Amino acid sequence: MRKVTIGMLGLGNVGSGVWKVLQDMSQELMEQHQVQLNVKKILIRNLRMDRGLVLPEGILTTAPEEVTDDPDITHVIECMGGEQPATDYMEKALKNGKTVITANKMALALNWRRLKGAAREGKAGFYYEASVGGAIPIIRVLNDSMQANRIDTVMGIVNGTTNYILSKMTDEKRPYEEVLKEAQELGLAEPDPRADVEGHDAAYKLSILSTLAFHKSVPYESIYKEGISKIQVEDITAGRDLGFVLKLLAIGKKENGVMDVRVHPAFVQENHPLATVSGAFNAVYLHGSACGDMMLYGRGAGSLPTAGAMVSDLISSLDSSSFDAPDSAPETLEQPAVTDNWRCGFYLRFSALNQPGVLGHITTKLGEHKVSISSIVQREAVDETGVPVIVITHSANEKDVQAALLTIDPKIAQVISVLRVEGR
Ligand SMILES: NC(=O)c1ccc[n+]([C@@H]2O[C@H](COP(=O)([O-])OP(=O)(O)OC[C@H]3O[C@@H](n4cnc5c(N)ncnc54)[C@H](OP(=O)(O)O)[C@@H]3O)[C@@H](O)[C@H]2O)c1
Repeated sequence: MRKVTIGMLGLGNVGSGVWKVLQDMSQELMEQHQVQLNVKKILIRNLRMDRGLVLPEGILTTAPEEVTDDPDITHVIECMGGEQPATDYMEKALKNGKTVITANKMALALNWRRLKGAAREGKAGFYYEASVGGAIPIIRVLNDSMQANRIDTVMGIVNGTTNYILSKMTDEKRPYEEVLKEAQELGLAEPDPRADVEGHDAAYKLSILSTLAFHKSVPYESIYKEGISKIQVEDITAGRDLGFVLKLLAIGKKENGVMDVRVHPAFVQENHPLATVSGAFNAVYLHGSACGDMMLYGRGAGSLPTAGAMVSDLISSLDSSSFDAPDSAPETLEQPAVTDNWRCGFYLRFSALNQPGVLGHITTKLGEHKVSISSIVQREAVDETGVPVIVITHSANEKDVQAALLTIDPKIAQVISVLRVEGR
């Protein structure tokens, strides 16, 4: 029977889940893998906090070196979060030859090279399945199962908070501020929600996903980010009437060696696999040269789903020799060519004069910039300020659309909203 001694960094939401999964699964894991898992130390900040767990005397510590430097500890499970000091502690543990398992997308996306370098130096395994998509095994799929595929698209709903808010706005036709407040009261959104609603959390995850999918390092800083805080329920409803559903998408595309990496709200057609992913669920859609379309779906966060992914990483690490953790990530930080002129469809809402020739003016100006129209709808006026006109374009260059909108006479039609429409 193999004995594995574990140190944990953090015992909050995810850490408590890891503790519970280890307790719950210990007998099965012992029988199936001939392994006895023993947690020796857990780093926390507050020794007095009641954590609602039965813990052995002396297991908690506030001294990080009792985890990172203890020679008995071979595996470190990091679930403390934040960039620092988590990165420093993981780096130290890796350099000391310990296998590290983390759920920390921020530390990983911002310090990819440093942590990979430490793993190489310490000849240590480094696992991060739980950093993207909670319980969804997307990292394993990208690293292991897609070797014979050239992936051209990775597109995901990877932030449960924003997906919950957009789903509620769609289903109940309620404004953003009201739904956000409710999500905060329910504990589904942080008191400071910016990391989620401004797209930073999704961008950390996209940095990891696109680096693995495209075998080129895609730094967080190279990702275009736009959040959901300015979304108006009128647009969600108008899009819904035309058969589209609004989602916050993390999108990575690669065409002719050029990448397009961005996080922003986008409409998807109601029959697209991502359209049905609602509430706190996550999904990642892939398109590969051999596999075609594929989507992975599941619980994107939560104590036990995330902990399950971490303990699975731990078990996988036992079957690998220390340094051969499957990993398709590049060793170097070769910068990809990233475009700022991507192509997609566009949803445009105008407030227009209620007179003949207005639709002609809009379509002419768009046409002059090579933007062709898929559908155009004039809706009933809600007040005297103008008539809502909704345009859905075919796939067009972002810069052409922006240029065309600048030429539309605001005395005839004012641009109210511009949202992107994603197909594949
Ligand atoms: N929550 C989720 O559903 C979820 C899903 C996927 C990934 N993740 C990732 O998992 C990680 C942990 O998230 P969480 O929700 O479990 O966070 P959390 O509830 O805030 O727990 C953080 C834990 O780390 C400890 N800690 C934080 N800073 C510390 C420091 N400087 N020194 C010592 N201990 C420190 C805290 O100690 P005290 O308890 O003493 O304060 C706490 O036990 C994050 O990277 C997060 O992005 C979370």
